[in-house]
Amino acid sequence: EGQKLHFDGSLMPNQSNIPSQFIWPDHEKPCLTPPELQIPPIDLKCFLSADPQALSTVCAELSEACKKHGFFLVVNHGVDSKLIAQAHKLIDDFFCMQLSQKQKAQRKIGEHCGYANSFIGRFSSKLPWKETLSFHYSADKSRKTVEDYFLNVMGEDFKQFGSVFQEYCEAMSKLSLGIMELLGMSLGVGRECFRDFFEGNESVMRLNYYPPCQKPELALGTGPHCDPTSLTILHQDQVEGLQVFVDGRWYSVAPKEDAFVVNIGDTFMALSNGMFKSCLHRAVVNNKIVRKSLAFFLCPNRDKVVTPPKDLISYENSRTYPDFTWPSLLEFTQKHYRSDTKTLDAFS
Ligand code: SIN
Ligand code: FE2
Repeated sequence: EGQKLHFDGSLMPNQSNIPSQFIWPDHEKPCLTPPELQIPPIDLKCFLSADPQALSTVCAELSEACKKHGFFLVVNHGVDSKLIAQAHKLIDDFFCMQLSQKQKAQRKIGEHCGYANSFIGRFSSKLPWKETLSFHYSADKSRKTVEDYFLNVMGEDFKQFGSVFQEYCEAMSKLSLGIMELLGMSLGVGRECFRDFFEGNESVMRLNYYPPCQKPELALGTGPHCDPTSLTILHQDQVEGLQVFVDGRWYSVAPKEDAFVVNIGDTFMALSNGMFKSCLHRAVVNNKIVRKSLAFFLCPNRDKVVTPPKDLISYENSRTYPDFTWPSLLEFTQKHYRSDTKTLDAFS
């Protein structure tokens, strides 16, 4: 199930040696058995409990993780496990289709949405060993839905696909607003501050599909990067692969079926005036089994100016980054993208 490859591109990965474009330079080659990163499971049950002590304990744990590396888990998140399972099943269905079918949603150059894979590209290097399908989600009800998008590019057969992912994105948007409340409390700026900022968010959802690779020690599923977005909510299947760079070395983040992995992106780092970190991470591949992950990238509404609340600016803690809007950051990232640089460091 899910293991059979269906690439009909010219670079079949199904061979004992992988094409050279997928071989990363020695200093970037992955370690496949790193130690496990200990990240706190943030229990969202505390939201429902009237116990202020429980809430402040959770905020302290969250704050510690976000100051250190920006990665944490959320458990008791309230997202229906059937919806998550359904989403994983639909990822299998999509990526197991013939290439020509998937290419109906082909991502165009300069666009962020659609289907992309590296296996039929020839001219690049350091290619990621994966296929992806990305699409927009807007919490603004007057904008196009995920269902509209899939009906348009893939046709009637994708009606259910679109409606499941619309529902999934709505759940992620709601969850991210809850997490924003906790982040606001952790930074001492109040529950509403960031929640209100992300009402009407215009986010992106990405489905990642990593086929088995004969030489996982030479390749990477996703190269090292920091997320330029505000918050990423990731659900990985039971196959290990996510790694985070902390204190000068790589750690793995073990899959946990009932948890989401959440990380702070560059835009939230800027909103927190540099207090909460956006951290380098990557995904490795293996030679046995397909790995899948679902990433929801929370992005501000295009009109919002990303600027930290006054309470986070002081003489000792002056402004770290200039004001910007999400579309301008995205444009900048595209022009200056380097997989090994922190976007915002270059941006400011
Ligand atoms: C990513 O950070 O873009 C991918 C993470 C993953 O697949 O685990
Ligand atoms: Fe990422």
